[in-house]
Amino acid sequence: MTDYVFDSKGKTFTGEMTVPGDKSISHRSVMLGSIAEGTTTVEGFLLGEDCLSTIRCMSELGVTIERDGEHVTIHGNGLKGLTEPKTVLDVGNSGTTARLIIGLLSGQPFYSVISGDRSLNKRPMDRVTKPLKNMGGTFYGRENGRYAPLSIVGGALKAIHYQSPVASAQVKSSLVLAGLQASGETTIEEPHLSRDHTERMLRAFGVTIETEGTTHRVKGGQTLTATHIRVPGDFSSAAFFIAAALITPGSELIIKNVGINPTRTGLLTVLENMGASIELLNQREENFEPVADLHIKGQSLKATTVSGEVIPRLIDEIPILALIASQAEGTTVIKDAEELRVKETDRIQTVCEELTKIGVQIEPTPDGMIIQGQPRTSLKGGRVKSHGDHRIGMMLGVAAVLTDQPLILEEGEAIAVSFPGFYDFFTKNK
Ligand code: S3P
Repeated sequence: MTDYVFDSKGKTFTGEMTVPGDKSISHRSVMLGSIAEGTTTVEGFLLGEDCLSTIRCMSELGVTIERDGEHVTIHGNGLKGLTEPKTVLDVGNSGTTARLIIGLLSGQPFYSVISGDRSLNKRPMDRVTKPLKNMGGTFYGRENGRYAPLSIVGGALKAIHYQSPVASAQVKSSLVLAGLQASGETTIEEPHLSRDHTERMLRAFGVTIETEGTTHRVKGGQTLTATHIRVPGDFSSAAFFIAAALITPGSELIIKNVGINPTRTGLLTVLENMGASIELLNQREENFEPVADLHIKGQSLKATTVSGEVIPRLIDEIPILALIASQAEGTTVIKDAEELRVKETDRIQTVCEELTKIGVQIEPTPDGMIIQGQPRTSLKGGRVKSHGDHRIGMMLGVAAVLTDQPLILEEGEAIAVSFPGFYDFFTKNK
């Protein structure tokens, strides 16, 4: 466990930067490349620990994957070419790897076991195994199949219609990967639209998948054809620098080549409601994904209420949004976000606990939090901790621009899950 010292008082954020590749897109590039026919090449792959877990698991399933820095080559085995793993598939801290692989393996004619770290093994897997059982999958796990370590006995699947109680891209993608192997047409309906990278990337691999409103349809038995994927910068990583620039007067930052898929950019919608103006420059599309350069200036903000359909579009940005709200005039209310309780940590609890330590006025609620803004009031330095959660760690790293004394972040190494180099990036150019 390592302490990371953030001594950033008075720092401003200027000039141009890029952020590492998108985590969701990197995972999917390897999984879909593995079940495609032919060789898929990926540029800008995120070298975060989560995505490396996906490479490790797919290699264990018999796929040849070569990596040269951020360039990855996947020699696809096709949907019927995966082989029984000889050891437990270690998904590390990665919920996306776990849930997507469970869907994929539910239709494979062999036995496999997945397990992860302590945090991962506390996260509910029955949100995918329950509908997958209805498709014909067989699973055994702790607490009646709710938690990993979880074993999967794959076999023939049949299509279902599933009305998901949660807007979760992991659930949707897991069922889509099973649906591709099922007889018939699988339909998945979600309460609100969750991130749609799986659907977009499947189209790049030549698969037909239709979306109407919040319902998705995919027919089994389709072939994926290898392709070339350029992974854009991760909006969720950019969010920490968007926040840093917004809350430090005198900042003017351009973050280049960031994915701006609307199912991910709820933070921009909310910031606009808070009175911020962020420019999207040089908008373009790559592999069915919209990309732009973001131009952010330090500016004053007003409080807002965040709820409903925007929540899944900014679910990973709520920790940093809580910090931003502490700098806005008025009371910000975040609700309908109970999903935060089953992330890498219970983020309602960890956000409130850590921000309270540094003097933010924040109260947890069952499905969100309430933040009293105190713009122009210094926060307190001292010891804080990531709780092993990368996004809590990075949020606290940004908070150090507002504290009177440095922040000492315990368990700072968690940040490498999605943004290796964040610390250097953040502390250089002081
Ligand atoms: C992800 C989906 C989201 C998100 C996670 C990555 C994905 O989780 O929080 O960081 O890549 O599909 P849920 O789908 O469970 O909301």
